[in-house]
Amino acid sequence: MKHNEFVYMTPMPVRIWHWLNAFGILTLCVTGLQIRFPDYINIFGAYKAAIRLHNTAGVVVSISYILWLLYYLIVAKSLMKLYIPTIEDLKSGIFRQAFFYFLTYFLGKPNPHHSTPDSKFNPMQKAAYLVIMFILLPMVIFSGVLLMYIAPLREVLLILGGIKTLIGTHFLLSCCFTAFLFVHIYLATLGHTPLAHFKPMWNGWEEEEIDDASTEKTVGR
Ligand code: HEM
Repeated sequence: MKHNEFVYMTPMPVRIWHWLNAFGILTLCVTGLQIRFPDYINIFGAYKAAIRLHNTAGVVVSISYILWLLYYLIVAKSLMKLYIPTIEDLKSGIFRQAFFYFLTYFLGKPNPHHSTPDSKFNPMQKAAYLVIMFILLPMVIFSGVLLMYIAPLREVLLILGGIKTLIGTHFLLSCCFTAFLFVHIYLATLGHTPLAHFKPMWNGWEEEEIDDASTEKTVGR
């Protein structure tokens, strides 16, 4: 016999941040395409309209990122615990998880990671989110701010290699985000049902399927 239990996995501030951020990043990617390839892509009409929308989305993503950081550092105090992989994660956990995603998932085997509110992410998620949230997102925000204020921040720009380097870096970072989005959304559908990981990002609660005989929980990320 199996029964379902609900665990409160994602607090409201994280959910608000996540969807604001997701919408902001999508807007940045689409408007960025028009700004980069204006001869081929025209979704928002005038070129200036695309720039205005791009800058607005950039401000929303930057402010929500700061709030996300403050929330995890000061209120939840769980940033390190949730996002920093352990030595064990790096030595074997990542490979075990990759093996699951590439092979054993398709054989119907259970996820090797069992999520709890204190250990929400599997080792691959920890590594990916660490890079995205602590390297790529700060870099794209920083390069975006420099591009918005080229004249006043001229000195900083010159130290970093000039405008071409900056534009190239900003573009490469946006490619990383686009690639991340595809993988992130695909992996998020691999719960015990395709929407199992989406629901807690919407209402906070994750549904766990419990096997009464083995007390084995079949939820994992
Ligand atoms: C349409 C776009 C997106 C969708 C549909 C989406 C979907 C999801 C889902 C279903 C989860 C929960 C499952 C999991 O933890 O993997 C999640 C969590 C997460 N996503 Fe996304 N995501 C999107 C965009 C983004 C973007 C652009 C970023 C970062 C730049 C991002 C970063 C994260 C992080 C850090 C978490 C864990 C949040 C936490 O519980 O602390 N997501 N996302």
